[in-house]
Order: sequence, then C-alpha cells, then structure tokens
Amino acid sequence: MTHIRKAVFPVAGMGTRFLPATKSIPKEMLPLIDRPLIQYAVDEARAAGIEEFIFVTAAGKGALEDYFDTAAALEQRLQQNGKTAALAALERTRMPEGTLSFVRQNTPRGLGHAVGLAKRLVGNEPFAVLLPDDVIRAPHGALAQMVAAHRETRGHMVATMDVPREQTSSYGILDVASEKGRLAHARGLVEKPRPDIAPSTQAIVGRYILEPSIFGRLANLGPGAGGELQLTDAINADLPDVGVNGYRFEGERFDCGSVQGFVQATVAFVMDRPELRDAFCMFMADRTAPLRNVA
Ligand code: UTP
Repeated sequence: MTHIRKAVFPVAGMGTRFLPATKSIPKEMLPLIDRPLIQYAVDEARAAGIEEFIFVTAAGKGALEDYFDTAAALEQRLQQNGKTAALAALERTRMPEGTLSFVRQNTPRGLGHAVGLAKRLVGNEPFAVLLPDDVIRAPHGALAQMVAAHRETRGHMVATMDVPREQTSSYGILDVASEKGRLAHARGLVEKPRPDIAPSTQAIVGRYILEPSIFGRLANLGPGAGGELQLTDAINADLPDVGVNGYRFEGERFDCGSVQGFVQATVAFVMDRPELRDAFCMFMADRTAPLRNVA
C-alpha cells in the first residue's frame, strides 16, 4: 500500500499561452491526440496508487468536473448501438464515487496559493502535486517512481530533469548538495537563474511530493516572482526543517502549457500508437521532403 494517498491538481491557471483556444475551455481539456491533458495526469496518479484526487479549479473550469462524471445518456446510447470501442474509451474517465474533490481559487494568485487552498482536503499527511501541463512519457509513471523513492527519503521531493545550461533561466533549478543515483539532496531551489550563475542544470518539473508542513509555510508566504505566491519559495522556507530531494525521473517531459511543447508531445505520443504511426510517418516524409532537398 502506498503512503501517498492524495494528489492535488492545480488547474486554476488562465492558460493565456493557448488563447483563443482556452477562452471558453480549460487548458487541461485540450486533447493530446484523443485524451485531454488532465486524463494523462490522473492516469499517472492512479498508477502511483493515489486514491483521492483534489482539483484546485476556477471560474470557467466546469468542463473538468463533468469530464470525470458519468454520462448516463451517452453510455446508454452507445450500448444500444453496440459501440463497444467507444464505451471502452469512456472507461478511463470513470472514477470511484467520492474520490474526487474540487476547491475553488477565486483569484489566480499563483501556484503556491492554489496548493495552499487544498489544506483542509489534504489534512496532515504527505501528498502529491501534479501539474497537468507537464506531460511525462515514461516506461513507469514518473509519480510512481517518486513515491517509491520517497518511501525511503521522506521530506519534500521535486521531480527534476537535466536541461541545457542556456535554458536554466526558464526553470526553477536545484542547488545540489549531494547526489546518489537519481536522487539529489538539495541545498535550495533557485527560481529561474541566469545560466552563468545557475547552481546546477537540474530543472524542477511539475511533480512534487510534499509534507503537510508546507501548508504552514504557504500560509505565511509573501508574493514572490511575478507578484505571485510561489510554491518553490514555500519549499525553500521549509528546507531547514524538512529536507528537500530532487528525483531525476526516468522519462521524457513535455511542456504542454506551451504550443511548441504540445505539438512535440502530440508527435511523440502518435509514435507510440501503432495504428497511427505509419500513416503519420508517411505524411511527414512527404511534407518534409522539400525541406530536405533545400538543405
Ligand atoms: P502556469 O504558470 O502554466 O500558468 O501555471 P497558467 O495560467 O496555467 O498558463 P499561462 O502561463 O497563462 O499560459 C502552472 C500550474 O499552476 C496552476 C496552473 O493551472 C498550472 O497547472 N496555477 C497557476 C493555479 O492553479 N493557480 C494559479 O494562480 C496559477
């Protein structure tokens, strides 16, 4: 049995990088091939043994709640028409009754603020945070890898990946004190450092396992970068009392909060689907041939 039972999904962001698509639908409902982003995150959490799913939502995010609800009329129609494949596709969206909770963030005051709003629902136990924008393609779910490592380390844990040094200013970066295998014990987290002063090239991506002490830090947090309440600031504040480890997960992360990352993720996941791959490769070969000839 896992010692991490609850996961928080902060989904209250405005998704401005995807406007106008996100004007009337939540970013987390954008489909990567045929599944919305939120489904990838929930599947990863389930694979890690999560039993309770807490969504921090905002105005205009109602489609997310409906997505995980039963669609009785639709299912009945599919059944009557013998559409078994379509019915099976709905299976993934089925969540045991009572396992989903929604808490509302009225104003987008930052990721730290959003996570802090889950305090009452999380209670006094370690919990996971998954940012659905960060889609991770991995042989074994990234969160499951972290949960296994956290069983030994305890304390706060952040997922990390190596980035080229010239990109450090786009990420939170780990200040590494010592390393052992995939684990890096951190001296601190540095928000978006310039490449020449970045303490490492281990970037933090959207998976966290946090001890409940984080809620006290979040409650006392002042505005950080961009005037928002930053989760990394709260983790840093807790660092002297509760250790922080980075976990370099096995897998590939796509930033689906950006259009470029979303397109790349689509291609990567198409290549994993035998029924789509061959036709896609032929199409791309055809499309890119003129470019290759120019080169
Ligand atoms: P982002 O920085 O990607 O912000 O948030 P965003 O608003 O979603 O997207 P852009 O930049 O406007 O395109 C990172 C994560 O934190 C959540 C987001 O939903 C996303 O999962 N978040 C951010 C909140 O839940 N509340 C906030 O106030 C800010």
